Amino acid sequence: MHPIIVKSMKVFTTNQSLHSCLASLKTSASSLGFVPTMGALHQGHLSLIKRATKENENVVVSIFVNPTQFNNTGDLETYPRDLNQDLKRIESIESLGEIIVYAPSEAAVYGNSVTKEAFDFGGLELQMEGKFRPGHFHGVGTVVQKLLDIVGPTQAYFGEKDFQQLQIIKKLVKISKTNVKIIACSIEREPNGLAMSSRNTRLTSAERFHASKIYDVLKTTKGKFSDTPLDEITKWVANQFEKDAIINLEYFQISEQLTLQPANKIEPQKKYRAFISVYIRNIRLIDNIALN
Ligand code: PAF
Repeated sequence: MHPIIVKSMKVFTTNQSLHSCLASLKTSASSLGFVPTMGALHQGHLSLIKRATKENENVVVSIFVNPTQFNNTGDLETYPRDLNQDLKRIESIESLGEIIVYAPSEAAVYGNSVTKEAFDFGGLELQMEGKFRPGHFHGVGTVVQKLLDIVGPTQAYFGEKDFQQLQIIKKLVKISKTNVKIIACSIEREPNGLAMSSRNTRLTSAERFHASKIYDVLKTTKGKFSDTPLDEITKWVANQFEKDAIINLEYFQISEQLTLQPANKIEPQKKYRAFISVYIRNIRLIDNIALN
């Protein structure tokens, strides 16, 4: 027999209303899943929410465009915001329980001081995205800690597309001794392999088609990893994009998975990943792949 699908959703914009709802739900045995987002929800987000609804009695999804993680004010101003559209997408999820949406104001999250804390993530913040988006991870760390404190989840879900962010959040909860399990969810891809992202909608259909090359290059990198020197792989990747009139490579890096330090030599007991960032016009796309 199929389970009865109950589709229901509650939306809160203040901490007080969220807390009184959570207090009415919580029993000591129940688990609360949390999916933090900045809205502009796509299938990748929906898969995190679906997984959270399967693994927890109750689920909170936050929708909050965090000002402190943008290192470019133009990017913050043009970031897509459409709460009604996002709510419709969440409502379309088949869930046995209720999904609680938390869509706070800036003041609800930050009070009257919209500032970011400076963290020491042990060097994780200095690689890749940290180099190209200075201050970004301090903003992410600041808001994620605030949201975890407000929501108080048992488990929080993050996508591996932002793998560096995921490692930083694991470190954040260790440093702050926050009692939450961080769950890593695998990358959702479009049929042509392009990693799902809110930014994909800004690509023309020709660009979106062509962008499949990013994942193709990562897959070939994985194939080369066991028998090709790392510097040769890096040169090969640079070469693939040098000839490309549409995609501009920003960085490609093979890193050890836990520290994110660039790999110089391969140690068989360690895990490695390749990370890439490219531009198509002014649209920045990132992706990564596990190599071993
Ligand atoms: O990955 C995101 O969407 C954001 O960085 C997050 C984790 C919701 C914090 O604003």
